[in-house]
Amino acid sequence: MTKIFISCALPYANGPCHLGHLRSTYIPADIYARYNRMAGNEVLMVCATDEHGTPIAVKADAEGKAPIEVAKRYHDMIVEDINSCDISFDNFARTTDEIHYKISQDFFKYLYDKGLIYEETIQQLYCENCGKFLPDRYVEGICPVCGAEARGDHCEVCGRALDPIELVEPKCLTCGNTPVIRDSTQYFFKLSHFQKPLEEYISTNEYLPPNVRNYAENWLKEGLQDWIMTRDMKWGIPVPLEGAEGKVIYVWGEAFIGYISSAAAWSRRTGIPWEDYWNGHVVHFIGKDIIYHHSLFWPAMLLGRDCKLPDDIFAGEFLSLEGRKMSTSKNWVVWVADFVKDFDSDLLRYYLTINAPLNKDTDFSWDEFQRRINDELADVIGNFLHRTFTFTKKFFDGKVPEYKNPSEADLEFEQSIKELPDKVGDLISDMKFREGLVEIILTAKKGNKYFNDQEPWKAVKEDMEKASNCLYLSNQLCKAMAVLLKPYIPNKADAICNIINIPTENEWDDAKVFLETGHEINKAKPLFKKIEDKVIEEQKGKLYKNLEDSESDKKESKDKDSKDKKSKDSKKEDEGEKNGFN
Ligand code: MF3
Ligand code: ZN
Repeated sequence: MTKIFISCALPYANGPCHLGHLRSTYIPADIYARYNRMAGNEVLMVCATDEHGTPIAVKADAEGKAPIEVAKRYHDMIVEDINSCDISFDNFARTTDEIHYKISQDFFKYLYDKGLIYEETIQQLYCENCGKFLPDRYVEGICPVCGAEARGDHCEVCGRALDPIELVEPKCLTCGNTPVIRDSTQYFFKLSHFQKPLEEYISTNEYLPPNVRNYAENWLKEGLQDWIMTRDMKWGIPVPLEGAEGKVIYVWGEAFIGYISSAAAWSRRTGIPWEDYWNGHVVHFIGKDIIYHHSLFWPAMLLGRDCKLPDDIFAGEFLSLEGRKMSTSKNWVVWVADFVKDFDSDLLRYYLTINAPLNKDTDFSWDEFQRRINDELADVIGNFLHRTFTFTKKFFDGKVPEYKNPSEADLEFEQSIKELPDKVGDLISDMKFREGLVEIILTAKKGNKYFNDQEPWKAVKEDMEKASNCLYLSNQLCKAMAVLLKPYIPNKADAICNIINIPTENEWDDAKVFLETGHEINKAKPLFKKIEDKVIEEQKGKLYKNLEDSESDKKESKDKDSKDKKSKDSKKEDEGEKNGFN
């Protein structure tokens, strides 16, 4: 039995969840967690909302609200989104929780006391009109490299990370005035100090997937620079040092610690030490836009803090929508809350898993969604289950029949059923979630072929033994699927268990135990309905209408006033969107 610590990247509390979040982290992490629990491992799966940083502060300013109000609003929405998709976190916290402040400040202090955080005076932009420094996205200007409009620390056009001080024609985002340059003392983390140990970590860690390793190796080749760990801002965790009044810890200097503080809150509630899990096997599920942070910055912080490093960092690639990059500001996005109003969330879990392996970019398209649900879930799995159950009811009084003198075909099918649990389990432990699901579908396909070949509807009249064997085995596959589908589509799996008349809580190896002859099943009901064309057309219609609306909004506001605040704000929302983390 292994203890496994699983985390998902902390979503910013500045918007609800959309499909990108689910695909890159929550669904894969949940499959992994559910499987491991069923396999008898002890799992602690945690997350929290990331509530500090300029994105939220800027949004709150624009709404005339306190940042905590904005954060709370989105935290609540995100929790609802996550619950609606049955993501089985053991704890879902907030980086504004007291325990997070305490642990983050202690962490900072520890690094400072060890000499790993030092002070340095640098030049920063300061707005004399607002009376404040302008970190990150509090300033806008022109990218010094490509000449495009850029937000404080990032140019969307050429993709460069910028120091706001490099911007041409900088403007204060709040008041529009031109800021001046002022000296300011900030705290830096000695990231450069960790070059060697990080090289060692990246090259010797057997679990790191190739995409994470490659990125990290390339950055290491460029050489690591120290990281600025503080900001002059009100919104954030105060720097726990004398003389640092008015400074907060940079959001990336504390967000990771949300993994630990969320786990610590869980420990407080349950009395079970989270450290045992951290000392077991640690897996971070993240989106690919934050590989740098997780493969280098976070391990360096942990090394500085004398902690064990994560064993695996699993980075999901991008999800596009109908062939285009998702964009919340252009409303080119499917929100989880909207999706679950119209469909069972298991359909989404299914589609986002089967559509592509996580290490490949993939696309959500409504047509493809419909096709996969109809052709695979309904026609393959649903059909196999339904014909087995209705046939059992009709010809065997709802009882699993006898299995005697199996034929060649029976034996071969029996073998496939018996092999399935280990095959799928091994694939899931190996992070090959899609491949595991494909195995299940292929076996159900085999089941349909076997059922057709055995022709039990004829055999009941001519060769009862043949019909019995066919239904005996078919029920066994249904049972195996009821267990094995649980990590993927938990609601549907439970519904199958209910029809088969077995408990819904199962261990993985229960999939290997055959139902006994005479076991009575319940009345079947259709589990996977086909999605009609008109439903898909409606969804597409909504999506394209959103896009048009947002385009005409933008045009109007541009026509009215090129400095119109609204269009600026909506642009701001794009940040972090590279991987659907917004
Ligand atoms: N909120 C950040 C993002 O969405 C992710 C933070 S992950 C953490 O990009 F580990 F730092 F918390
Ligand atoms: Zn200003």
